[in-house]
Amino acid sequence: MAKKIIFGQFNTKRDIWLKEHIKRFIISTKAAVAYDPFAGDGHLLEAARSIGFQETIGLDIDEKLDWAKNDSLLHIPTIDNAIIITNPPYLTNYSAKRKGVYQSVERYFSNSEYDDIYLIALERMIQTQKYVVAIVPETFINSNFKQKHKLNSITIIEDNCFDDTETPVCVLCFDGRVKDPKAIKVYKNDEYLNTLRYFEEMRIKPSKNIEMAFNDSAGNIALRAVDTTDPNSMIKFMRKDELDYDLNNIKQSSRLITLININKLNRNELDLFLEECNKVLFGFRDRTKDVLLSPFKGNMKNGRRRRRLDYETARAMLEIAYEKVYRRDTLWTISNCSNIH
Ligand SMILES: C[S@@+](CC[C@H](N)C(=O)[O-])C[C@H]1O[C@@H](n2cnc3c(N)ncnc32)[C@H](O)[C@@H]1O
Repeated sequence: MAKKIIFGQFNTKRDIWLKEHIKRFIISTKAAVAYDPFAGDGHLLEAARSIGFQETIGLDIDEKLDWAKNDSLLHIPTIDNAIIITNPPYLTNYSAKRKGVYQSVERYFSNSEYDDIYLIALERMIQTQKYVVAIVPETFINSNFKQKHKLNSITIIEDNCFDDTETPVCVLCFDGRVKDPKAIKVYKNDEYLNTLRYFEEMRIKPSKNIEMAFNDSAGNIALRAVDTTDPNSMIKFMRKDELDYDLNNIKQSSRLITLININKLNRNELDLFLEECNKVLFGFRDRTKDVLLSPFKGNMKNGRRRRRLDYETARAMLEIAYEKVYRRDTLWTISNCSNIH
């Protein structure tokens, strides 16, 4: 089991990641060799053969496998006219520590600014080959990866490609050309959504001008910050008594269900405020097609990926709603005053 965790041996079993536009990208590179420096059971090279590659090359660190042995997190040999098609190992440094395997992977993290092995793998691959197609955790979209400008496209895959993990993934296609985020395409499954620039501009950040405390048992607003599997119970701001949950379970570390305290909030305005919070939330989800919300393991019953609302973005939404209610209130007062006079 430790080996499976250290080497991230979760093989890609289904080709549902190989969408038509990804196939077109691979073919457009005119590469003659499909190359997987983290080859595992070789399934991705098989997928490459199915779309016409006659030459395939695999490497792996695990000597029990039939590939030439190589530590591809340290160095990947360049191959002429090749495209990398892979699913590298995923492992964060904190999860390696929690699982007691950090010593085995420390050498990768000590020379890197990244906190997940797949980001280190991406950096190595882009250094080595111009064209790279990689299946990686969907959290990539919100990561600090420095070379996003070399991407051609990002495709969120909602179906599960694996048998032994539910990690939400996306497929990255790199073409080595430096470009503006408005030239980088974002897809969900087969559907083109928008450019990376569009999504980057849609991010909301709190200005922290309203005092509020999350995970406060005295809080007056409840937030279910994660979609349940039932499409009728998605992320929502609500009254405390609407929450079907034992509030004693809320701790400082709670990330999925919380109580939020906003002292400034007038109790009589609570329903109006909650309505506005949910309007801001639904509008955000609609405009961003969920791309900016953290993916959560497993899908809803309707196949849509479950999402989690991080507290920074939740705070920004509460601020926007507060502004709206407060302004409306002020305008109402002013207009009523002017009617009186
Ligand atoms: C997530 S699996 C993917 C395998 C295959 N690419 C696929 O998609 O089915 C990652 C593979 O990378 C290998 N691996 C882990 N660390 C490695 C390293 N430092 N160098 C080369 N291969 C490594 C593992 O043994 C495993 O086979």
